Parts: sequence; structure tokens; C-alpha cells
Amino acid sequence: MCGIIGYIGKRQAQPILVNALKRLEYRGYDSCGLAVSGSDIRVYKDAVRIVELEKALPQLRGAIGIGHTRWATHGAPSQVNAHPQCDCTGNIAVVHNGIINNFQQLKQKLISEGHTFVSETDTEVIPHLIEKYYRDGSDLEEAVEAALGDIEGSYAIIILTAGEPKLVAARKDSPLIIGIGDRENFIASDVPAVLEYTSRVIYLEDSDIVVVTPQSITVKRDSIEVSREEHRISWGVEQAQKGGYEHFMLKEIHEQPKVIRDTLVEYTQTAEPVIDLEKMLDVSEESMLILACGTSYHAALIGKYLTEGLLSIPVRAEIASEFSYYGQTLARTMAIVITQSGETADTLKAIKRLKEVGCPVLAITNVVGSSASRIANQTIYTRAGPEISVAATKSFMAQLVVLYWLVMSYSKVDARRLASMLLELRQMPSKVQQVLDNENKILEVAKYLSGYENVFFIGRGINFPVALEGALKLKEISYIHAEGYSAGELKHGPFALLGNDTPVIAIMSQDNTYEAMLTNIKEIKARGSPVIAIVGEGDEAIEGLADWVITVPRVSAIFSPMVNTAALQLLAYYTAKERGCSIDTPRNLAKSVTVE
Ligand code: F6R
Repeated sequence: MCGIIGYIGKRQAQPILVNALKRLEYRGYDSCGLAVSGSDIRVYKDAVRIVELEKALPQLRGAIGIGHTRWATHGAPSQVNAHPQCDCTGNIAVVHNGIINNFQQLKQKLISEGHTFVSETDTEVIPHLIEKYYRDGSDLEEAVEAALGDIEGSYAIIILTAGEPKLVAARKDSPLIIGIGDRENFIASDVPAVLEYTSRVIYLEDSDIVVVTPQSITVKRDSIEVSREEHRISWGVEQAQKGGYEHFMLKEIHEQPKVIRDTLVEYTQTAEPVIDLEKMLDVSEESMLILACGTSYHAALIGKYLTEGLLSIPVRAEIASEFSYYGQTLARTMAIVITQSGETADTLKAIKRLKEVGCPVLAITNVVGSSASRIANQTIYTRAGPEISVAATKSFMAQLVVLYWLVMSYSKVDARRLASMLLELRQMPSKVQQVLDNENKILEVAKYLSGYENVFFIGRGINFPVALEGALKLKEISYIHAEGYSAGELKHGPFALLGNDTPVIAIMSQDNTYEAMLTNIKEIKARGSPVIAIVGEGDEAIEGLADWVITVPRVSAIFSPMVNTAALQLLAYYTAKERGCSIDTPRNLAKSVTVE
């Protein structure tokens, strides 16, 4: 979703803003812009890529500025709707990430008071409201506070005014950080935007209003100064760069063995997977609810199979955006929410609802200081490092590791079985590495797959969510229509679509699903669909049955989602590459979905 950046300091703002906007590109955007303040405010913006904006920019002199990547919600991507948005005088410029729910009413009122609007955006009411209160004689900070008092909705905003040597920023339900430099400071929607300049950051909290000058950062809430802790970011700028890979997605797929290792080291340092979990979840609860969106939801579904299999308690894995519409009783349910970014609006809303009804919430997230980590009762961090590609890969793998660890920690299985499971989990980095080493075979299959427009992915048991994830990866980056199905469900309708123009990708595992999967493949072949099978090494039954076979290392069925998913990620990547798609920033998608 929208990315924002602000700079104030000793250097020229323009190159820093452009550079930071490039670092924010991964969030997904359709237009971009910036404003620099010298003797007046100069705004440049358009519905173009950042490199094109950069080429069109004159040299702007000024050491204070703001920038924005917009992901359209109110009004089409266009020059006029791009940010910064200004007031009538052009002396107040604002960049905004979020949604102003009551903007229509505010806009009508402001128009009746003589304000002129030029865009269709909700954001434009903000500079006009600030202008209104600023005119009334308040100082800038008071005017911002008064304006925010009128606004209903979510926002992370930065305000630049002509002639004021400061930036004012505020947040509510949208992330915002301050990067602390030497006689210069930064404001941004996330850490990668400022990492090249500083590793010292402050995470702002909801309702914070901050005034930033080159030498000072003053955070206030309800007009009272508050202190916010400074954090050191442990990962370096190179981790947020491509490191020789053609795309972030490929780099992130290849980082997975390390990510599994890092996450495991964090949580399983002894021979036993157990640390003090009593603090985290009440294991005496009778049921569990796992909530998430998108890829994280697929991790949640795998978590359900794991938990029901190893803990024998009923688990509901639910899509967070649907959760508000359910009317069920939630009491005595332990709740886990999974979110890479920790900022997904639907997931945050679900956490708030769970807490309102008294359910303790454990968040599994990749972003330290994210909103999810701040509102949940407990947080477990995945150690995936910054994930820049819009399509989630390594964060999913790290979520699985945390889920395996959690479930194994609670598991009542006997010590020998537990020890052997832990041993196998520790071998997963090398197993996933073996999948990555088989890249050339997967590339060959991808070339074949890239010629089709419709694909089904099927799996059973713990590999049903893997089928969903494989389909999601393929559709989002290659734009091939892909559907994930439980193999048993395919004959209840989708069979009507089978034929030689619709391949089916079958994810096999050596467990009680295997025979039924073989039967399903035969049924599919009988209807003319080409079959691509993902199978464990040494599977001879599949040879001669499937048209294409991708072999992955043989592992126990419960760990098969890790190797199978790695193969499907590469398949999606190379298929999209073959089709010439914009892999890291797929059309219409955003990395962090901060609107409902
Ligand atoms: C797909 C993808 C999305 C996210 C979803 C939830 O590749 O990345 O489906 O998984 O938007 O995001 P988080 O995990 O940040 O809550």
C-alpha cells in the first residue's frame, strides 16, 4: 500500500526522497510524487514509475521534503490524485497512507466554507483542514491536532509547510517510523526506506503526533510529550537489496534455508523444542483459532492440520476479513494471528475483536514493532529478515517453522518421536536447499506451464493448503488463472473445466493421502488434462502417469509442505519470468494491505 517518506536535515532532500521512494516501491504503487520546501513548496507527481518521475524532475533545492508512492483507493491513478496533496494556498503539502472514512462530509463542509478541491482523493481534506485551523492563528502542530480531531479513519501522514523548518507527522492504524540521523532525521512508513541512512529507529504509536527538525524529535499524545524507545535495526541495507539476483523474489526463495535455520536457532536451542510456553498460550484451552490473510492464511491452515494431528484439539483456521461476520462464541479459545507485515488491516481488526471478547492473542509476525505486535498479548517473531517482493515466500517458510515449533512444544507425543521430529525439522534447511538445487528441472516445467491460461493445483491433507499457496503464487505473479483445490473436491464441479488446455499440478505426499491422489490423477488424465506431479524421491508409481514430474527430497509427510512449497514458489517464479511479468511488483497488488 502507499509508502511515505519525509526528510529534514543537512543535505539536499531531493536525492534522498527519490532513493527512499525506490526502497518503498515493493509495497506496490500506481503513482508517485514528492515535494521539496525551499522558499516555497514545489510539488512534482504523476501516475508513473519512480524512475520516470526522477527523469522528469528539475533540480530542486531544499533540505526538507516529503515523498509518496500511491496505491489508489479513492480516485484513479492520475497526476491530480497522486500525493502530495495541497491546500488552496499551496503552502501546505501532505502525504498520507490510510483511508479517511468521513472525507465526503468533511469535503462538503470545507467546500461550503470556500475551499476548492482538485482531486478525487480522501487525502485532500487533510491539507484543507490544516489550512483552516492554521488560518485561525494556531501553530502548525495545533492545527494538525485539530484537523486530526475531525478525521475518522486510518492515517500515517507527514505535513510539509512553506517557511516552517520542521516536519509534522502523525499515525493511527497505519505504520510510521522515525529514522534518527546525525543532524538529520527521517520519517517513513517502513524501515527499508531509511536503512541506507540510519539503523536507529523509533516506532510511533497510534495517536502520536511528532514534530521533527534536524536536531530534535518531539512526540506528543493529547498534547503531552511522551517518550518513545529507540530501536537498533539488526539487518543491514544489503539484506534489503537484490544481492546479485534478478528479482527480490528469487533472492528471497533462495534465502529460505537460512531463514529456517535462523528461526529455528531462535526458538529451539536445546535438544527439546520446549521453552517457557506457559506464558504464551493457555494450553488448557479446549480449542484454538488461527486467523490470517492470503499466504499467511495458508500457513494458518497448515497450522490447523499440525495442531489437530499432534495436540488433538479442534482448531479453526479462518480468513481474517471474514471473521467479523461470524457470530460464534469465542470464549475459551486461544487465538493465534499470523501476519508477515503485522499491518494487515483485516488481521488487526480481528485481533481487536478477539481482545474485546477476552481472548488472549498470540501474534506471529516478521516485523518488529509492527501494529500486530503492539496490540496482541504476546508476539513470536519470525526471523525472515525484510521481505521486499510482494509475493510472500520466505516469510511463509518462517511462519511454518514457528508453527512446527509451537505445536511440537505442546505436543504430548512420546519423547522419542518428538526428538526424531525435531531432528528432521533441523534437517529442513538442507532439504529445502536440495529443492533449490533442482532449479533447472523446475525451469523446464515452467517453460511448459507458461503457455497455459488456466491451471488447477490439487493436494490432500496437509498438502491441500500447499495447493492453495501454489495457486496463489502462480496467479499473483504470472497472471495465469490458477485455482487451488482439495483433490477430493475437484470432481464436485471443476471437472467440467478439465481438458488438454488445463493442466493440473498434483502435490503428492507419502502418507494416507497417497493412494487417493494416484486415483485422482488417473481420473484427471482420463479427462485429458496434462498432469504435473510434485513427488518425493523414489516415487516410481507416478512415472508414466504424470506428464511432468518434479522431484523433491523425501521427508515425513508433516514436513512435506516445506519442500513442496519451495518447488511451487520456483515454478511460479520461472513461469512468470517466462511470461515477462513484473515479478516483484505484480499489477494491482500491495505488500502491506492496510485497508479493509
Ligand atoms: C501473497 C501475499 C499476500 C499476504 C497477505 C497477508 O503472496 O503476500 O497474500 O500473505 O496480504 O499479509 P500479511 O502476512 O502481511 O498479513
